[in-house]
Amino acid sequence: MQYAHITGWGKSVPPATLTNDDLATFMDTTDEWIKTRTGISKRNISHVNTSEMASVAAKHALAAAGIDGSELDLIILATASPDTLIPNIASTVQANIGATCAAFDINAACSGFLYGVGLASSLIKSCQNKKVLIIGAERLSFYLDWSRRETAVLFGDGAGAIVLEANETPGGILGYELNNDPEGRHILQSNFGTQMDRFDNESLDFYIHINGQEVFKRAIHGMANLSAKVLEKCNTNIDDVDFVIPHQANERIIDTLVSRMKIPKEKAFVNIADYGNTSAATIPIAICDALSQGRIVAGQTILSCAFGAGLTSAALLLKW
Ligand code: ACO
Repeated sequence: MQYAHITGWGKSVPPATLTNDDLATFMDTTDEWIKTRTGISKRNISHVNTSEMASVAAKHALAAAGIDGSELDLIILATASPDTLIPNIASTVQANIGATCAAFDINAACSGFLYGVGLASSLIKSCQNKKVLIIGAERLSFYLDWSRRETAVLFGDGAGAIVLEANETPGGILGYELNNDPEGRHILQSNFGTQMDRFDNESLDFYIHINGQEVFKRAIHGMANLSAKVLEKCNTNIDDVDFVIPHQANERIIDTLVSRMKIPKEKAFVNIADYGNTSAATIPIAICDALSQGRIVAGQTILSCAFGAGLTSAALLLKW
């Protein structure tokens, strides 16, 4: 019997930061508004492409796992902001880390990383793959209209990666649940794609649009629902969960989620103050930060959940 264990992790966060006060110098907002409504204090803005951040995170994850890129048999890169649509940017990362395996991108927005980890764990458990690199990487600053305060304050850039390896020790990824609610696909969207009319400047608005309050409600419902399902599937009681790593979209969403699920807030990891919402990258970055702060220790049962455009949602249970 093969199990899928996390053996390496790494992140790459651009050095340039924009604080809330920086934003207030060119848009009608305040540090106080942003902090109270979202929990965000600053975010990082990248001057390099998504694949470059992804490659750095990947190299750190490989080093932590103690393996070479050439040993990987699959790369899954979750992103909604690839530097190119063709080719996929997993292939760019692959070239940068010297891998010679299968590689593809997935777009499940903020849930993309958990979608990737779930799929990779199934491939490992079915003995299809042995060493898989999963990356969440975003440069959402590119899709922001910096004159629209409703969206510009929410997001940041960054990348995180993990290595998932097969071994026979029980544990690792215990189970996962994925879902998509197509009814809500217009409440969080960017029009970038072939539906844009290349000859009509009016339709060239590819910036992110959000119905924030609707996203807020559905995010809590989606994550709570799938978390309950994955716990049931894995015969695990909520009280046996030691640590929760939720998608970092808004600290108030996390507060409401844990309170609805009757999980003490201290069990939930929150680092949104430093990064904003980095979409598919929030969870692997959170894993790196939680490990470096000693919040994750061997033997813990960890629940992770996410929600994003689509409207996708995902929940995953693992034994560290
Ligand atoms: N600074 C100051 N004022 C602002 C700003 C800003 N940056 N943005 C909006 N406002 C104003 C509005 O114009 C409005 O003013 P009005 O009352 O005069 O009309 C007022 O603040 C309240 O606006 P709301 O949109 O009602 O504010 P709300 O409390 O809903 O907070 C927010 C908005 C933070 C976006 C919230 O809805 C939210 O967190 N939603 C979910 C998160 C989200 O959408 N994340 C995006 C990615 S999705 C994901 O990752 C799952």
